[in-house]
Amino acid sequence: MFTSAVILSLLASVSAWTYPSPGCSNGAGFKLDSTGRVNRTLPSGRTYLFHLPGAYNASNGAHPLVLSFHGAGGTSANQERLSQFSQDGLLINELPIIAAYPQGANNAAENRTGVWYSAPYYNKTVDDVQFAKDIVTDIQNAYCVDRIRIYASGKSNGGGFTAYLACRPDTSVLFAAFAPVSPALYPESLAFKGCNPARAVPIINAHGVLDTTIPFAGRNDTNGTYGVGVATINVPLWRRQWAIRNGCKTDVPAVQTNPYPNTTEMIWRCNTTFQAYTVSNLGHSWPTTGALDASGAPNNTASFNLTSPAMITFFDVNPLPFQYIPGYKA
Ligand SMILES: *[C@@H]1O[C@H](CO)[C@@H](O)[C@H](O)[C@H]1NC(C)=O
Ligand SMILES: *[C@@H]1O[C@H](CO)[C@@H](O)[C@H](O)[C@H]1NC(C)=O
Ligand SMILES: *[C@@H]1O[C@H](CO)[C@@H](O)[C@H](O)[C@H]1NC(C)=O
Ligand SMILES: *[C@@H]1O[C@H](CO)[C@@H](O)[C@H](O)[C@H]1NC(C)=O
Ligand SMILES: *[C@@H]1O[C@H](CO)[C@@H](O)[C@H](O)[C@H]1NC(C)=O
Ligand SMILES: *[C@@H]1O[C@H](CO)[C@@H](O)[C@H](O)[C@H]1NC(C)=O
Ligand SMILES: *[C@@H]1O[C@H](CO)[C@@H](O)[C@H](O)[C@H]1NC(C)=O
Ligand SMILES: *[C@@H]1O[C@H](CO)[C@@H](O)[C@H](O)[C@H]1NC(C)=O
Ligand SMILES: *[C@@H]1O[C@H](CO)[C@@H](O)[C@H](O)[C@H]1NC(C)=O
Ligand SMILES: *[C@@H]1O[C@H](CO)[C@@H](O)[C@H](O)[C@H]1NC(C)=O
Repeated sequence: MFTSAVILSLLASVSAWTYPSPGCSNGAGFKLDSTGRVNRTLPSGRTYLFHLPGAYNASNGAHPLVLSFHGAGGTSANQERLSQFSQDGLLINELPIIAAYPQGANNAAENRTGVWYSAPYYNKTVDDVQFAKDIVTDIQNAYCVDRIRIYASGKSNGGGFTAYLACRPDTSVLFAAFAPVSPALYPESLAFKGCNPARAVPIINAHGVLDTTIPFAGRNDTNGTYGVGVATINVPLWRRQWAIRNGCKTDVPAVQTNPYPNTTEMIWRCNTTFQAYTVSNLGHSWPTTGALDASGAPNNTASFNLTSPAMITFFDVNPLPFQYIPGYKA
């Protein structure tokens, strides 16, 4: 059934292969407000903010979907504001982006709101991985989504969760590419050990060198121990380990440039691409020129916007190879 659903779109506006979701034929949609938004509540009780772009039109083909996970203590609405996936005009495979901003569970026992698995303070009674899968299912049944163009991104604890999703056999092939931004790479994000993706994984990452929340150089636990407790990994090391995991023979980046002021870009091109931005004068912020992410003291402002064009372009050129879709036969 799915095999026959794979079509080479004949529409002039879309040039590449797509893998249309069930919602392409019979999607009922959601009841949206006048801005194309709704707060969805799933049967599990978990919620996410949904945004349908104004230019969505199922007749034009299967649309890309981006999930954007907020940082600890964050909200869906604020994550939409700072990551900007709902802005007009963003295209992947020449079609506008459907966006979902999941809301993290609270952890009252540890006086925390909006947290994700992989942090030491995660909510032990919810299943965040299942939540991510449920969101994808919810949206691809209701709208015309391109199964090979579903992406995971996130900031801080949401970035650590994104990095964790890249490390799992199942979720490394649910999402086409991953964008952990200033990720909180605690041991349970599998940054130190245990990362086990089903394939080479395309990843785009940015980190401010002035980050005091999740230090660029990493942090050992309070006993000085590496890789346990609230330790976070050295970010340059984590990147190089991904390059090797993605099939590189050397951890030296193939490309190193300075595309924006105070910013170094490193690209490891092996079986797939790891693309990294190191921002010398930025704190714990998603890079924007408008200081949209207020958590970055001493500097919330970057000299560029990470989401567009860098992240969107990266997603555009990294669809999921068909072979990784369960049950797919060429
Ligand atoms: C979603 O819920 C948040 C928090 O209650 C609220 O501020 C926001 O207006 C809601 N958005 C929509 C589209 O209903
Ligand atoms: C949707 O796209 C189809 C085919 O491109 C077009 O005929 C139709 O007018 C579009 N609908 C809207 C509401 O733009
Ligand atoms: C974890 O999240 C669930 C679902 O929101 C909630 O019922 C539960 O109280 C939370 N646990 C803690 C310790 O806050
Ligand atoms: C809970 O956290 C809030 C905000 O971070 C803080 O103001 C408050 O003092 C904390 N309460 C307890 C009991 O630790
Ligand atoms: C990378 O590609 C080579 C050659 O095709 C293959 O042997 C290797 O298993 C691949 N590694 C990963 C992580 O995909
Ligand atoms: C953490 O400990 C490791 C191993 O002892 C050491 O190599 C590393 O420099 C330490 N990292 C930091 C940020 O102190
Ligand atoms: C630090 O060491 C103390 C004493 O051995 C131990 O109780 C504690 O759990 C350790 N903390 C971490 C984060 O490993
Ligand atoms: C580069 O960083 C320095 C230190 O924050 C700052 O003074 C300078 O304005 C930055 N340059 C640009 C072009 O953003
Ligand atoms: C923060 O970074 C921006 C962009 O590089 C720069 O223009 C600004 O001067 C910096 N602010 C501080 C306080 O360093
Ligand atoms: C970053 O995005 C904002 C809001 O869309 C825009 O005003 C600004 O010009 C962009 N900055 C750059 C350098 O493109």
